[in-house]
Amino acid sequence: MSDITIVGTGNVGAGIAARGVAAGHSLPLLDRDVDTARQLAGTLDVDADPGTVGDEPTGDIVVLAVPFEAAEEIVADYGAALSGKTVVDITNPVDFDTFDSLVVAPGTSAAETIAGLADDGVHVVKAFNTTFAAPVRTGEVAGQPLDVFIAGESDQAKEKVSGFASAAGLRPIDVGPLRRTRHLEGFQFVVMTLQADPASPAFNWDTALKILTP
Ligand SMILES: NC(=O)c1ccc[n+]([C@@H]2O[C@H](COP(=O)([O-])OP(=O)(O)OC[C@H]3O[C@@H](n4cnc5c(N)ncnc54)[C@H](OP(=O)(O)O)[C@@H]3O)[C@@H](O)[C@H]2O)c1
Repeated sequence: MSDITIVGTGNVGAGIAARGVAAGHSLPLLDRDVDTARQLAGTLDVDADPGTVGDEPTGDIVVLAVPFEAAEEIVADYGAALSGKTVVDITNPVDFDTFDSLVVAPGTSAAETIAGLADDGVHVVKAFNTTFAAPVRTGEVAGQPLDVFIAGESDQAKEKVSGFASAAGLRPIDVGPLRRTRHLEGFQFVVMTLQADPASPAFNWDTALKILTP
C-alpha cells in the first residue's frame, strides 16, 4: 500500500490515522511539534514515521487534517513538493466567532480556495469533512460504516481516496467535481450547528451523515 501522509495529528488526524491502520497503510505523520506526532505514532500499530510540518510529504496521498487557514498556508508553502500527489482537504471553514456562517464567500468553498493556492499538478480532493473525529476513529456509527463524500476534478485522485476509504471499512461516494464542495461544506455546517444545539440533545458530535439504502 502507498503511504498516506497526515499533516496535523489532532482529533481528526488521529481518527484518519486509525483508518489508515485499518487499511494497512504506512503513515508518515507531520505536526508543528514533532513530539505531538511522535505521541500519536507511538499509539499506532504500523510504521508511522513522525516529522514536522515542512518536512517532505512522502505519501502519495497527503491528508491536511488542520484548520482551513492552516491548510491554505501549508499548500502554498509546499508548492511544487505536492505536485502529482492527491491532497485531501477535510476542512469545515466555519466562522467559529459567530458559529453562524462560513468564512468562505458564497459561490466558492474551502476546497476550491485551497486548490487555487496549489501548484499545477496537485490534485485536491475533498473528503472526510462530514465524518466527525470520534466516529472516524472507529469507522462506524450504530454498526453502519461511515459514508465518505468525495469531490474533486481528478477521477484518478478520487479513485485513490475511494480506495483508501474502502480498504478502511468505509463507504466512499463520489459526489462529482470540486464545486460540489460548496454544498458538502454548507451541509456539514448545518450538521455541526445541530450538535451544538441544546434543542438536539441526542446529537453530540458522535453522529454520522449517511445515505441509507433499502
Ligand atoms: N473535529 C471534527 O469532528 C472534524 C470533522 C471533520 C472535519 N474536521 C476538520 O478537520 C480539521 C482538523 O480538526 P480537528 O478537530 O482535528 O482539530 P484539532 O484537534 O485542533 O487539530 C488541529 C491540528 O492542526 C494543527 N494546526 C493548527 N494550526 C496549524 C498551523 N497554522 N500550521 C500547521 N498545523 C496547524 C494542530 O497542530 P498543533 O498540534 O501544533 O496544535 C493540530 O495537529 C479542521 O479543518 C476541521 O474543520 C473536523
